[in-house]
Amino acid sequence: MNRVTTTEHGTDTISLDVAEVRRHFPAFDQAEQRDQSFFENAGGSFACRQTIEALTHYYVENKVQPYADYPSSARAGALMDRSRERWAEALGVEGREVVFGPSTSANTYVLAHAFGELLEPGDEVVVTDQDHEANTGAIRRAAERAGATLREWQLDRASGQLDLDRLRELVGSRTRVVTMPHASNIIGQENDVAAAAHIAHRAGARIVVDGVSFAPHTIPDVAALGADVYLFSLYKTYSVHQGLMVVRSGTMTELPNQGHFFNADVPDKRLNPAGPDHAQVAAAGAVLDYVDALHRHHGGPPDATLRQRADFVSALWRSHEDDLLPGLLGVLADRQDVRVLGADAVGELPGHRCPTVAFDPLAADPADVARELVRRGVQTSSGHYYAVRVLQALGVDPDRGVVRLSFVHYTTPGDIERAASALAEVLGPR
Ligand SMILES: Cc1ncc(COP(=O)(O)O)c(C=O)c1O
Repeated sequence: MNRVTTTEHGTDTISLDVAEVRRHFPAFDQAEQRDQSFFENAGGSFACRQTIEALTHYYVENKVQPYADYPSSARAGALMDRSRERWAEALGVEGREVVFGPSTSANTYVLAHAFGELLEPGDEVVVTDQDHEANTGAIRRAAERAGATLREWQLDRASGQLDLDRLRELVGSRTRVVTMPHASNIIGQENDVAAAAHIAHRAGARIVVDGVSFAPHTIPDVAALGADVYLFSLYKTYSVHQGLMVVRSGTMTELPNQGHFFNADVPDKRLNPAGPDHAQVAAAGAVLDYVDALHRHHGGPPDATLRQRADFVSALWRSHEDDLLPGLLGVLADRQDVRVLGADAVGELPGHRCPTVAFDPLAADPADVARELVRRGVQTSSGHYYAVRVLQALGVDPDRGVVRLSFVHYTTPGDIERAASALAEVLGPR
């Protein structure tokens, strides 16, 4: 199952050592996880050991008000700064462009209020119906309050895809903001953010990208994507329960301060009125130590930058996930009694597909199917996953919901086999 991973030193054949990966996740050592397979990763991933240790370490040794001159306080501040700098380097941006907030929903809420102050009647805001509500609800309300016009970039009713030609039609000289997901938490297919950013920027608009369902699979190169704002949730990315929001400096300067008046010039406080959660911010960067450990373990080039190390490790994650995905999709594809939302085969649609698989078991109640899967050691659930608009657009009743199985790089072939045989059993003969 080797895959070719290209490094700057040439082309090596390396595959992810999943046994090594799982040694970094204490959750797998818990008795309760034995003979179980975790498929709720799009809801929240397990935290790596480095994250847990950093959080504990902060609470034990540094749980004081940071940035004063006594040792524990100075250490606390230094750890918070380190998280910011490390994440900035990993994402290809500047430290002052990184905002930690309580969650992505809280970050988009604040962001929407900030954009809302800039909007005027006649301005236009483009939103999608492929987003989790976090990246669309608050900005829709802000636009309405300001008397701006909402334009909805609607997904294709058959495939669930967002078509760039449709965006080209919607964006015009009055467009101020475009919001979109990098990948939907239901459809899984990655959207072409760089192309969408190009379209938005040509019209002079800003683009806000929800990377929550993408970042756990590939640490994004935010600079290369061209997003003005890029958000993701660290607690789904093996880290602490915080939302990380990159606001590129042009947009940061343009957006009105949402924090205390005296913090207007403090970049990471302008857009976090909640104030920082010191311990979690201090521990937020530790997941990148995990990335570094994987980079070393897999023989990554020692002189690589953190951005390059993130790329190297992401390529391994991705390749591993790509190997496993057909095994899960295959058991659902071509069944008359199952509707997979989005592509039910890899390569069926343009772009890469993240391993988030949502389906409607047409002849059964999704909640019953999820319960039966859980009984067979497949930890999953059913519901609308706050993607109510996506389900409605695809003709699925959000109250009924869908079953969702989502996995990441620590998932094993054995997990996929367990899920596939449980699904075959629960759904019955084709
Ligand atoms: C795609 C997507 N965007 C945004 C969010 C909201 O993130 P948070 O829970 O950090 O508010 C979620 C949460 O499930 C999500 O899946």
